[in-house]
Amino acid sequence: MNSKLKGRDFLTTNDWTLEELEQALNLAFELKQKFALGEPTPYLLYKTLFMIFKDKSTRTRNSTEAAMTQLGGHAHYITEESSQISHGDTAKEIGIILSRYGHGIAIRDDIYLGVGQKYMEEVAKWASIPVINLESDWDHPLQILADIMTIKEKFNNELRGRKFVISWAYAQSHAKPLAVPQGLIMAMPRFGLDVTLAMPPEFELLPEAMEIARRNAEEAGVKFEVVHDMDEAFKDADIVYPKSWGAYVYAQNNFEEMKRIAEKYKDWIADERRMSLAKKNAIYMHCLPADRGFEVTDAVIDGPHSVIYDEAENRLHTVKAILALTM
Ligand code: CP
Repeated sequence: MNSKLKGRDFLTTNDWTLEELEQALNLAFELKQKFALGEPTPYLLYKTLFMIFKDKSTRTRNSTEAAMTQLGGHAHYITEESSQISHGDTAKEIGIILSRYGHGIAIRDDIYLGVGQKYMEEVAKWASIPVINLESDWDHPLQILADIMTIKEKFNNELRGRKFVISWAYAQSHAKPLAVPQGLIMAMPRFGLDVTLAMPPEFELLPEAMEIARRNAEEAGVKFEVVHDMDEAFKDADIVYPKSWGAYVYAQNNFEEMKRIAEKYKDWIADERRMSLAKKNAIYMHCLPADRGFEVTDAVIDGPHSVIYDEAENRLHTVKAILALTM
């Protein structure tokens, strides 16, 4: 594949222009069609991607590994324990050495605030091949791209003026990363969506991400508002994306404190009553895994508004597009 994006890192959507992101999305739509027709897409024949996972994954690992296979290449699955990363391999060594073995490095490092994105940037500084973010403490750009693809599909590519709501929701696992909500508020305004961010006061996002979201909204001529009431957020929404995240900004990496704070807000759940506040044809999204019975009721996640399976499927097509364009 002849691509001007060859060699580019994909660490956050904000590093790519809107035109570049649209190019990736167009290719993702084309790849989705070819996948459905069973047409081969050997754009990365004999190429190798190294996937370093410092956290668990179902969708990100399997969509990325399947993408490499279906593009004609291969992906290696690497963990800290199964490599010498746990015994001292530095970001510099990883960047330089893996660059001599293959054609791309992908990393998931999302558990601790202030760690993952810095690590990826350090690997990218030394690597001579593209570095792809599989979710950090800052952004989850592959998830965000799949979410945009899903919204385009569901609303026939007519996004401008639609109300997109990212809301905090209670979950028993209290320390989910900030990557998805931050990635969403930064990227969605660029695609013409009016963004509402809803959360209890202690669950604010990083000020740098808020600043980028406000700037992107201003440049795109769309709204960006923050509310502390889940009902108010859901009112007249076209798209609702209720999910949990940790009170990292408030409690830093103190997980016990995050748990204590989250327990105050158990009523922040996506249920049928709240869904009825949104527009009739509103869609319910979640990057998964969801904490059923806490973040969302079964009736909503399995109900007529839910698009979670299409959203999860689009992880495959969008990561294929990013890998084909950059590698
Ligand atoms: N949405 C997402 O990134 O899922 P995994 O944690 O399973 O990769």
